[in-house]
Amino acid sequence: MKRIFSGIQPSGGFTLGNYLGAIKNWVALQKDFECIYCIVDLHAITMFQKPEDLRANSRLGAATLLAAGIDPRKHKIMLQSMVPAHAQLAWVFNCVARLGWMNRMTQFKDKAGKDRDSASLGLYAYPSLMAADILVYKATHVPVGEDQKQHLELTRDIAQKFNHDYGLDFFPLTEPLIFGEATRVMSLRDGSKKMSKSDPSDFSRINLTDSAEQIAEKIKKAKTDPHPVPDAPPASEATRAERPEAYNLMGIYAALADTTMAAVAKEHGGKQFSAFKNALTELAVAKLGSITSEMRRLEKDPGAVDAVLRDGSERCRAMADPILDEVYRIVGFLKP
Ligand code: TYM
Repeated sequence: MKRIFSGIQPSGGFTLGNYLGAIKNWVALQKDFECIYCIVDLHAITMFQKPEDLRANSRLGAATLLAAGIDPRKHKIMLQSMVPAHAQLAWVFNCVARLGWMNRMTQFKDKAGKDRDSASLGLYAYPSLMAADILVYKATHVPVGEDQKQHLELTRDIAQKFNHDYGLDFFPLTEPLIFGEATRVMSLRDGSKKMSKSDPSDFSRINLTDSAEQIAEKIKKAKTDPHPVPDAPPASEATRAERPEAYNLMGIYAALADTTMAAVAKEHGGKQFSAFKNALTELAVAKLGSITSEMRRLEKDPGAVDAVLRDGSERCRAMADPILDEVYRIVGFLKP
């Protein structure tokens, strides 16, 4: 049986990176898999969030998934804090994961920055909770952007060590699903940095809440180089690194248009960037406009969004609780 799980942090608005690297693929996978999509509010508080912002962003996250086309009846849209089994399994995994493994996590190093002593313990343990999110449903496939790959390798290590320590074949070894032409969308201001909701410059990203005018302005101001649009996809990572901004815009175009970089290079290669940027703006506004307007509609109806989260979370509790019970029995917790 194939089961999909994936999550997104409500720690700010949602970006084109989230959409192309994850959400767009989540929508496509509904056809062939049983899917659980989670707003990971427990993960969000690993960095301080104002309570009212967290509440608003959790709702916005759910509204984004609905607006993008996730069907909450056939699949599940749920809130992490509404299913206690995630945090309960995470504790068990904190006792399975090794410090040496956690110390290798590049996202922790990036997010903690230079002053590691003042990072929260939760930020350090973050990937162990992520493993619990996935394995509390015995999910087999996890669609993510490239930046989450290392965390999924750790999830496999945790599953493998748990299985080995208790002499069982209990947890599956989860497969990452990283696909499409925009698995790593870069900042519009600096092609060597990931597009991120936490970048101080709003011009570095396209937010899914941006208006058509904002999208146009950001694409117009996006950094490029003096050369025309490349006439072929990058042959290697080294080639990509020579013109990161140019290839980034090509990748965004290809993903939005559901085509390949090669097709974009064929159609637009050799053109001036000003002309390509106009075409990209038109495409982005056409593809994102309907999502944004549906999000705006849902924003006015928080009761409906909350009902989706409550219902999805309730159905998830019914799936997760028996698996957690099994884990508790396996590790030797009494069930009086
Ligand atoms: P988060 O909230 O940072 O991002 C959500 C998803 O969006 C992808 N993404 C990107 N993809 C391409 N280019 C980008 N610039 C870009 N920015 C973000 C991410 O790869 C991710 O798929 N730890 C996770 C959330 C999480 C999770 C899980 C994911 C918690 N538990 C269990 C999968 C399974 C995170 O912080 O994602």
